[in-house]
Amino acid sequence: MAESPPIPAPAAPPARTGAPTHAPHGRPLALQLLAAAEALGQVMAGRGLDRALDRVADAERPGVQALAYEALRRWGAARWMLGRLAERRPAPALGHLLTTALALSQPGSGAPLFAPHTVVDQAVEAARRLGGAAAARFANAVLRRAQREADHWAAELAADVTARTNLPPWWWSRLVADWGLPTAEAIAAAGRQRPPMVLRVNRRRSSVDAVIRQLAAEGVEAIALGAEAVHLPKPAPVQRLAGFAEGWWSVQDLAAQAAAPLLLDATGERPAVPAGARVLDACAAPGGKTAHLLERQDLTLTAIDRDPQRVTRIQDTLRRLGLTARVACADAGTPADWWDGQPFDAILLDAPCTASGVVRRHPDIPWLRREADVGALAREQDRLLAALWPLLAPGGRLLFVTCSVFRDEGSRRIDSFLQRCPDARPLPGAPPPGHRLPVRDNDPGAPPAGDGFFYALVEKN
Ligand SMILES: C[S@@+](CC[C@H](N)C(=O)[O-])C[C@H]1O[C@@H](n2cnc3c(N)ncnc32)[C@H](O)[C@@H]1O
Repeated sequence: MAESPPIPAPAAPPARTGAPTHAPHGRPLALQLLAAAEALGQVMAGRGLDRALDRVADAERPGVQALAYEALRRWGAARWMLGRLAERRPAPALGHLLTTALALSQPGSGAPLFAPHTVVDQAVEAARRLGGAAAARFANAVLRRAQREADHWAAELAADVTARTNLPPWWWSRLVADWGLPTAEAIAAAGRQRPPMVLRVNRRRSSVDAVIRQLAAEGVEAIALGAEAVHLPKPAPVQRLAGFAEGWWSVQDLAAQAAAPLLLDATGERPAVPAGARVLDACAAPGGKTAHLLERQDLTLTAIDRDPQRVTRIQDTLRRLGLTARVACADAGTPADWWDGQPFDAILLDAPCTASGVVRRHPDIPWLRREADVGALAREQDRLLAALWPLLAPGGRLLFVTCSVFRDEGSRRIDSFLQRCPDARPLPGAPPPGHRLPVRDNDPGAPPAGDGFFYALVEKN
């Protein structure tokens, strides 16, 4: 996988405060567990979770998706437990079902989606449908033993890196080498949590106060986070909320919302990027940051993405929000194919990366990535930086962004870029290049932690 996923959250799982004992959406939970386990088996074989869920009928998808996302947040521990508790190795389909059920019936970081005993009962029923009475007996033995003996295994489980962190060993070693043990533990813990739902208000069509009032009228709690962002403590399905279709707001994490002001605003002695400026968004799909740039300023903006399907999503985003840009499907690294030769005043390069900073939103990522991906993506980031730098006018600025917490996809990229390009330097007065980690401030009143990002704002002499 050579690209990072879109930043907006996938359809939020149904918000649940208690632990219900029956499936929503009318389908027996046993069938939803089977569908989730089937999709997770595909993830373990290398397919992205959203694609794996494509086979699930639309009406069932929200429920199955919620189970699959939640199970992945405890998959490492569940897989470890299955290895310990099963007397023999089950067939793959039954193994995925049992791992799913173990993950959903053990304590996690949020309120359980279903009561543990319900998950166990329904998983036994699902095993019966899969492999008859023998499979049901096997499932019953494993799952009930896990319920009885979880405390007994806790210390041994904690000694296994993947069971404890829910990350592959190479990923964990990289976090520890980059950040030290306590911060690495905090980053890994953040990846096991459900993500906050944050909206970005389209200042051309609405305001934070108006959006909060409108949501309150529908019984949805919303809290202002500054002048443009709103936090929904209980995530809700996007399409059903007031104002989405009208383009009043978009879903965008707080850390991702930092890009547009960083690129456009006045910094130190440098004025803001003026109206009419020529701006390039080089890796733009699905258009979250493109739209934010255009919401803040009247720009002559070119949005490029290499993926044709994702390019249509940029156009959908702009249409919904009432914004315009020149949109092209192209490799940003070969400007000869798409550049008209007129220098840009500002460039946003939101580069493809491992997406190691957004694991809580895309919990399939650690199970899909390989260590070699980090080097390959770092080389692609270097290629894009080198190809786009000549397109920037003297005095112009470039914002390099990745949603990664690996230094190889952040500080090390920009350090080597600055060494290679004597006409580049960090923009004076701007926040210095740096990683933003997905770790919450200890202050209980602090806003929810943003996703993990790297930002570097450089200017051309
Ligand atoms: C992190 S996502 C961009 C998210 C987007 N900026 C937003 O805020 O909605 C990275 C994007 O880069 C695109 N991409 C990857 N390699 C590319 C290339 N060589 N040229 C143009 N786009 C590329 C991917 O298709 C993907 O859509």
